Amino acid sequence: MSVYSELTNKIKNKTAVITVMGLGYVGLPMALEFAKKGFKVNGLDTNERRINNLKKGISYINDIDSKEIKEALKRKPALNATTDPNIISQSDAIIICVPTPLRKVKDPDISYVLSAAKMLKDYMRSGQIIVLESTTYPGTTREIIMPNLEKNGMCIDRDFYLAFSPERIDPGNPKYSFTNIPKVVGGFTKECTDLAKLLYSQVVTKVVGVSNPEVAEVTKLLENTFRIVNIGLINEFATLCHKLNIDVWEVIKAAETKPFGFMPFYPGPGIGGHCIPADPIYLSWKAKKIGFETKMIDLAAEVNRKVPHHMVERMEEILKQNNKKLADAKIFILGVTYKRDVNDLRESPALDVIDTLNKKKVSWGYHDPFISYLDISGIKAKSAVITPALLKKYDLCVVLADHSTIDYKMIKDNAKLIFDTRNIFAKKNITGENITRL
Ligand SMILES: NC(=O)c1ccc[n+]([C@@H]2O[C@H](COP(=O)([O-])OP(=O)(O)OC[C@H]3O[C@@H](n4cnc5c(N)ncnc54)[C@H](O)[C@@H]3O)[C@@H](O)[C@H]2O)c1
Repeated sequence: MSVYSELTNKIKNKTAVITVMGLGYVGLPMALEFAKKGFKVNGLDTNERRINNLKKGISYINDIDSKEIKEALKRKPALNATTDPNIISQSDAIIICVPTPLRKVKDPDISYVLSAAKMLKDYMRSGQIIVLESTTYPGTTREIIMPNLEKNGMCIDRDFYLAFSPERIDPGNPKYSFTNIPKVVGGFTKECTDLAKLLYSQVVTKVVGVSNPEVAEVTKLLENTFRIVNIGLINEFATLCHKLNIDVWEVIKAAETKPFGFMPFYPGPGIGGHCIPADPIYLSWKAKKIGFETKMIDLAAEVNRKVPHHMVERMEEILKQNNKKLADAKIFILGVTYKRDVNDLRESPALDVIDTLNKKKVSWGYHDPFISYLDISGIKAKSAVITPALLKKYDLCVVLADHSTIDYKMIKDNAKLIFDTRNIFAKKNITGENITRL
């Protein structure tokens, strides 16, 4: 039997062994979903702490209940969480979900993809399908993964199959999860795409094939560039509306009544997370390599970068209107993660706000139900328990992440002044003279 038919059969009858490399926000939900469908799944991660937690049935990702992990460990076949790369050779399908952050100089940090590719080279065998999911610049699958797989004398479509499939998961989104977000796959050949489509169709409701890995790579970058540009636009618009003394939230609500040609984006304290601040930069970096200037991306990144600093200016303004100087004020921050209901601090605008407050020597405290301690680049603090007495000690309470477990009515009743950068009070129909929204 050909390698292709063998893999097809194994996927169809669920005897294919699947290894997910990188068990983070992307890899862990996917590994659990394949396990739920009856596949034998190996979860491979270089982070021993994460693997030890998984072995004990403890989740470190918000959207995943520890119960789900415990069930996967008990099920037959059981989820195998490991740091041992030897399991690569025992797998039929390998899905790579390693990080693709930015370096300090804001260039793509492709080191995790390189280390994953090196592991594949050292441990892969013939008869496997490999899919890269990490968001990256066009050409990564071809230029980094492919040469490592071919190094052992193995040949695509004869010994292995290779595709790129971007992950579109949106942590904290109660409506769309891994299974009901359509998956795009682009293989090097028709056989690669067909096998990758078959693999994902076991766990997601819709799979869309595209002609090659580069199309799939850029699809993800278009989606996130669309977001960074529109978020930049609405953040700039919000600043302008504030200066014109016009309520930007009311403007958006009115514009939304147009049934076509408009899609609402909302202003906030700045962009964060592992995707929106980083992914478009992967594209602009690649564009620069071929002498193309991505003006829209660069401008959106610049506009968004300034937003946290602008939030501090707004705080200063609100305090001034209440006869208080920022330098003498005590600020309380509600929510430090990059968005609501996630435990992810990566690139969070709250960190820039805090950094600016520190530079201005302003006293601050915070509460975040997901982050008990802050210990990042010299920032050390403990999440405070919110009580009426605590709120009364602060001059201004600033909502930076609108977590759903926070009692906003209690905040409104007890905080002296509130700056709401997320419009959460209006969404909850809570009004008060002490509330200023972005
Ligand atoms: N977080 C999101 O919302 C999201 C959404 C869509 C796409 N993505 C993309 O998916 C990728 C993964 O993101 P994430 O948020 O899950 O990252 P993460 O940091 O939460 O998880 C990645 C994991 O990979 C592990 N790892 C690193 N090198 C490894 C190796 N060689 N072998 C095995 N494990 C290794 C790390 O220890 C970590 O646990 C990134 O490219 C990201 O841009 C993320």
